[in-house]
Amino acid sequence: MAERKDTRAPIGLCDLVAQHRALASELTDAVLDTLFGGQFILSAAVAQFEREFAAYCGARYAVGVSSGTAALTLALRAVGVGPGDEVIVPAHTFIATVHAVLHAGATPVLVDVDETSFHLAPEAAEASVSERTKAILPVHLYGQVADMQAFTSLARRYGLVLIEDAAQAHGATLRGRRAGSFGVAAGFSMYPAKNLGAAGDAGVVTTRNRAIAARLRRLRDLGRATHTDFTEVGDNARLDSLQAAILRVKLAHLDAWNERRGENAAIYDALLADLPIQCPVPLPGRRHVYHQYVIRTRARVALVAHLEERGIKTGVHYPKPLHRQRAFRNFSFAAGRFPVAERLAREVLSLPVHEQLAEGDIGRVAHAVRDFFDRSGRSEL
Ligand SMILES: Cc1ncc(COP(=O)(O)O)c(C=O)c1O
Repeated sequence: MAERKDTRAPIGLCDLVAQHRALASELTDAVLDTLFGGQFILSAAVAQFEREFAAYCGARYAVGVSSGTAALTLALRAVGVGPGDEVIVPAHTFIATVHAVLHAGATPVLVDVDETSFHLAPEAAEASVSERTKAILPVHLYGQVADMQAFTSLARRYGLVLIEDAAQAHGATLRGRRAGSFGVAAGFSMYPAKNLGAAGDAGVVTTRNRAIAARLRRLRDLGRATHTDFTEVGDNARLDSLQAAILRVKLAHLDAWNERRGENAAIYDALLADLPIQCPVPLPGRRHVYHQYVIRTRARVALVAHLEERGIKTGVHYPKPLHRQRAFRNFSFAAGRFPVAERLAREVLSLPVHEQLAEGDIGRVAHAVRDFFDRSGRSEL
């Protein structure tokens, strides 16, 4: 961990410039090799990254696509989800989870999340299964794997397809198995700020099913089966070679980065333990990769201002519940009541936890958070 000399230096929610500086020569080689190799679309670098990422996740296949949203959309389409089908999704997630279902032509069914884990709970999902339910799409929110054992058994009992939204969980495990290896397919985002991020938009679908992998390869490439033969209507959603080359470099560092995030989170856990805040409960058998370190407080607005004054950036994931987004105002799925999602939207706050934080940064943030609660005299959430 690097030492930061200036104790007032701004602390960001992520620091990709520092990450790239640390990998400068590897990244330069990867980018120049691609530029001078002259193959920019579906090149060997894409296939190599796909093999490496599939092996990393413990999935048989990985198919590189243009974003996490494309990954989830094409995963749903590849497993046969389409018009007339319902897909169960948590009411507290990034909006792209719902977009993917809509892009596949299906109907999202929002289910309120669990108050302690902030995740989709299997019992609540089960209560929403209808005759039209085709798939369940749990989200490994903030870097912690959802209850995949319960979802697997739920999917079996009702004959549903289980797809993982693994956009925030590269490397996270449940009983030693990595995110991306539980569902029939899983969608990852390699948006730059993710634990494994590209230098632009990128995504990947993992699957253990050969036919689904083959269909994904067609769907990402306008339905192309051979050079001249297009067998279905697809999308232009390919992972480009430059991003694949960059992701190959970064994948080799992912475990060390996740380790560092875990250490940072453990320091917060210890330093903030007695404050009137609530974190999502750590679920048993998990290795959390802390895409975000999230706390919950009703004093969020004042705490954000207090931290901002001290040069500490925070984030809110996510400030407006999905069912209140104007984009969905004419969809019936948005008419439901989701009280936990509403409360979380008002109270969640993400503190910097990324792997580039310097020694002392976590202590400085934790100290500033403590100072806020000492001054405000708050003793409740
Ligand atoms: C939970 C979740 N699902 C889906 C996505 C969509 O990924 P992308 O932004 O790469 O399209 C994201 C990324 O932001 C996400 O956090």
